[in-house]
Amino acid sequence: MLRLRHFIDLEEYTTDEIMQLLELANEMEARVRFEKATRGGSTISPLLPYRVMASLFWAPSTRTRLSFETAKLRLGGSVIGFAEAASSSVAKGESLADTIRMSAHYADVIAMRHPKDGSAYLASKFSTVPVLNGGDGGHLHPSQTLLDLYTIYKEFGTLKGLKVALCGDLLYGRTTHSLSIALAAFDSEVVAFSPVELELPGHVTEHLKRYGKTIEQRRELAGNLDDIQVLYMTRIQKERFVDPAVYEKVGHAYILDKAVMATAPTQMIVMHPLPRVDEIAVEVDADPRARYFEQAFNGVPARMALIAVLLGQNHLHGKQGTNWRVPTVFEGSCPNQRCITHFDSNATPEFYELEQGKLACRYCDAPV
Ligand code: CP
Repeated sequence: MLRLRHFIDLEEYTTDEIMQLLELANEMEARVRFEKATRGGSTISPLLPYRVMASLFWAPSTRTRLSFETAKLRLGGSVIGFAEAASSSVAKGESLADTIRMSAHYADVIAMRHPKDGSAYLASKFSTVPVLNGGDGGHLHPSQTLLDLYTIYKEFGTLKGLKVALCGDLLYGRTTHSLSIALAAFDSEVVAFSPVELELPGHVTEHLKRYGKTIEQRRELAGNLDDIQVLYMTRIQKERFVDPAVYEKVGHAYILDKAVMATAPTQMIVMHPLPRVDEIAVEVDADPRARYFEQAFNGVPARMALIAVLLGQNHLHGKQGTNWRVPTVFEGSCPNQRCITHFDSNATPEFYELEQGKLACRYCDAPV
């Protein structure tokens, strides 16, 4: 019998499975480009007619929502959903679990974004159809990571042995959390550029130890990029700061401009999940090393591959990834005040053993 698989966390897929998804994304990209060139941009021959995707976005998004929806439409079938909590019955107090239960009756797959850490795992517990995590609070953003890996793979032909610098808001930046763990799984190195206040959180650094990786921390960008192949810039996320004074201090800590780019290697590429504010000066857009708009385009073929696999149109071969988190009994609560367990009574606390004697929250991975 086919096992219901979600896409909550990239670590539930083996590196071999991720490579198969990237190869499939490559095929999808060729189809999209061919159709655009020959039919003036109309949808490609439907691969998944009659299948419905629910696009449930409780938090703002441009790229993730639109590229998930475009991906489904290009595969055939249709899309239902909402783009903000205010236009759903959440505004009347309906829980995430109930919304998911209903949507699983209406649709064959659910793409979602929610402001609370761990919300995607909660959704997966109440869904009878695959759930695709389009970002759960400041926790993870695995479909972004899939398109990030696809962008890097197209550029370098490998995901192994690279040195990737993550820069900016590494504390709240869910894209950097998912990406650093994925790069570690592929045996690439991660270098962090961030203010002290915005270093990678414990749930990420603890996970990296599973792959025998530690993070090299640097501060200044200029003159410190000689050994870097990918510079992954991120926005410092004002909306996630509890203390506005801390944002005032670090909010503009990194500006990538022509002067900094002049100190960077000619083969280095610049990525950014977008949206950007001021961390990449517009003058860098014309630099041949800028990849962030192509990266955003890659979201469509990467998400087409994901939807096609989770709806059974295409299949991943070989050993399947599993849930590596081993549950354990613990009568406590999650220390992360942004975790969904503090906001939804359906989110019964669950914990797992991160390593001997160290527990973490099953929803948001916060070490206990
Ligand atoms: N990269 C990304 O998640 O962009 P959106 O917030 O616009 O979806």
